[in-house]
Amino acid sequence: MEVIVKNNYQEISKLASQYLLNVVKAKNDAVLGLPTGGTPLGMYDIVVNEYKNKNISFQNVISFNLDEYIGLDENSKYSYYYFMNKNLFSHIDIKKENIHIPNGTTTDVQQECIEYENKIKEEGSMDILFLGIGKNGHIGFNEPSNYFEPYTHEVILQENTIKANSRFFKDAEGVPKTAITMGIKTILSAKKIILLATGESKADAVSKTIKGKITPGLPASILQLHNDITIITDKDAAKKI
Ligand code: F6R
Repeated sequence: MEVIVKNNYQEISKLASQYLLNVVKAKNDAVLGLPTGGTPLGMYDIVVNEYKNKNISFQNVISFNLDEYIGLDENSKYSYYYFMNKNLFSHIDIKKENIHIPNGTTTDVQQECIEYENKIKEEGSMDILFLGIGKNGHIGFNEPSNYFEPYTHEVILQENTIKANSRFFKDAEGVPKTAITMGIKTILSAKKIILLATGESKADAVSKTIKGKITPGLPASILQLHNDITIITDKDAAKKI
């Protein structure tokens, strides 16, 4: 596990974007695993600029998002589909058919999870997967629990996650209570993982991820078992390492 502590958000975003861009430059049909949330916004900004400067193409790139809320469709401005389109996909030349995000409006969640997992397997494996981290140590929407859920599955969001994510909604009431997320084994199947963390509120989760006991009570701790993971944090998130 490699840990890189940067001075500020801009530096984190720059380094993260370099990882992403280098993978795509080395392999034009790279398979990317992507997060939503506040943390990766700076990285997406830089990637979009790089595309606008004509330094890169995403024509053959395939992407898989980590998660999606259940009940929100592509046009809902709170859905992760909408988020990804707004912040990345609509600005680059990735093909719509190469974008994969769990379908939050499916009538059969279990079937959607199986199909999502199969699609990832069909592509081989993700060349690089970016993760944020919850204050409670969640990755994707794998919330603390008493066992590691291996594959893509439905999850009931915890109160603190709903509260944290309510900043993107009009009010906490509007935050869906359930979501579809890649599982832990799905996440670990990526060839390379980059975890981004900023701010003091993540310091506890970051230190337990790096040097805590491996436990489903802190899902990110399982990342200790991956053989190619880089954690990029700012000084605040690194305070308890
Ligand atoms: C989002 C996701 C979540 C977030 C995490 C941190 O797709 O999978 O695990 O990465 O909740 O969110 P932010 O970056 O908003 O602090």
